[in-house]
Amino acid sequence: MATASAPGKIILFGEHAVVFGRPALAVPVTQVQATAVVTSLPRVVPKGTQKRSNLDATHWQEHVRIEAPDISLYSDLHSLLSNPAPHPLALAVTSVLAALGIEAAPPLSIQITSTIPVAAGLGSGAAVSVAIMRALAAFLGRPLPDRRISALAYNVEKLHHGTPSGIDNTVVTYARPVYFIKDHLTEPFRVNRPFTIVIGDTGISAPTKESVTDVRLLWKSEPARWEKVFDQIGQIASRARQVIEAEDPAGLGPLMDENHALLELLSVSCPELDRLILAARRSGALGAKLSGGGRGGNMIALVRKEHAPAVAEALISAGAKRTIVTQVE
Ligand code: PMV
Repeated sequence: MATASAPGKIILFGEHAVVFGRPALAVPVTQVQATAVVTSLPRVVPKGTQKRSNLDATHWQEHVRIEAPDISLYSDLHSLLSNPAPHPLALAVTSVLAALGIEAAPPLSIQITSTIPVAAGLGSGAAVSVAIMRALAAFLGRPLPDRRISALAYNVEKLHHGTPSGIDNTVVTYARPVYFIKDHLTEPFRVNRPFTIVIGDTGISAPTKESVTDVRLLWKSEPARWEKVFDQIGQIASRARQVIEAEDPAGLGPLMDENHALLELLSVSCPELDRLILAARRSGALGAKLSGGGRGGNMIALVRKEHAPAVAEALISAGAKRTIVTQVE
C-alpha cells in the first residue's frame, strides 16, 4: 500500500499577470488536503486467456480501480479513458505510468479523498493529480522527484485548463511558499514572520479558463495599456516577497488592496467577491483581494491572528459559503 497527500493553495499576489510572464506568489493551505491511497488487488485472468502471458491493454486498465467517493466516482481506468474527454484522474495515472516506462499496471485500486473545495481557486485539481502521481509511483517502487511530479501535473492541468501558468501544480507539489515566473523561475522562499489569512468562498464556481480567456481578449484589444497593468501587478508581487521575507507582514495589507483594484480593472472580480472584500476590510482586515481566477471562487484577507474569528464571521454574514483561516509560515 502507498499513500500520498498534497495541500490546497492560494495565490497571494499576481494572478492573471502571471500568465503574461509577471511574477506571482502562492502559498500552500495545509488545512485542506487531497490524499490518494494505492492498494493492490488480486490478479484476475479472464476466461479463455489463461495461456496468454500478457493481458491486453484494455484488460489491465479494467483492473485499475479509481474511486473518489467525494465526487461519487467509482470506476476503472479503462472507462475513464474511454470518454471523449479522458478524465483528469485517469490522465494522472497514465502519465505516471508513461513517465516510468510501465506499459501495463498490476491490478490495483486508487482511493482518492479530498477536503479541498472544487473549482474554487484552491488548487484542488492539481493537488489530486499530485497525490495520485506520488502514491502510484511509490506503490510501483519508483518514487519520482518533486520536479518531475510538478511537470507531470502541469501536463494534466494543460489538457483541462488551456494555458495555465503552472503556479498551481508548483505550489501544491513543493508545499512551500513560492515565487513563480512562468517558464523561468520557481523559487521557494522563507517567511520572516508568520501571518494569518482568512479565506472566504463566494460559493460561485467559476471556470478559470473563462476569465483567463477574457483577460487575453482585453489585452489583445489594447496591448500597451494592459501590459502596464500587468507590470504594476508584477511589481506588487515582487514587493510583497520582500515584505514577507524581511519585514512586518502587516505591510502586505495595502499591497493586497492595490492588487485587487488592478484585478477589478481586468474585469475578473464580481459583486459577490467585492462584497466579501469590503466586509473583510470593515471588520478589521489589513487588506483583502480576490485569489485565483476570480468571477467567483475565493477572496483572501490579511488579518491579525486575534481578529481572524471576527473577520470570518463578517464574511459569513456577507454571504460567504465557507471560510478557512490559515497561517502562512
Ligand atoms: O483559479 P486558480 O486558483 O487556478 O488560479 C488561476 C490563476 C491564473 O493566474 C488566473 C491562471 C494561471 O494559470 O496562473
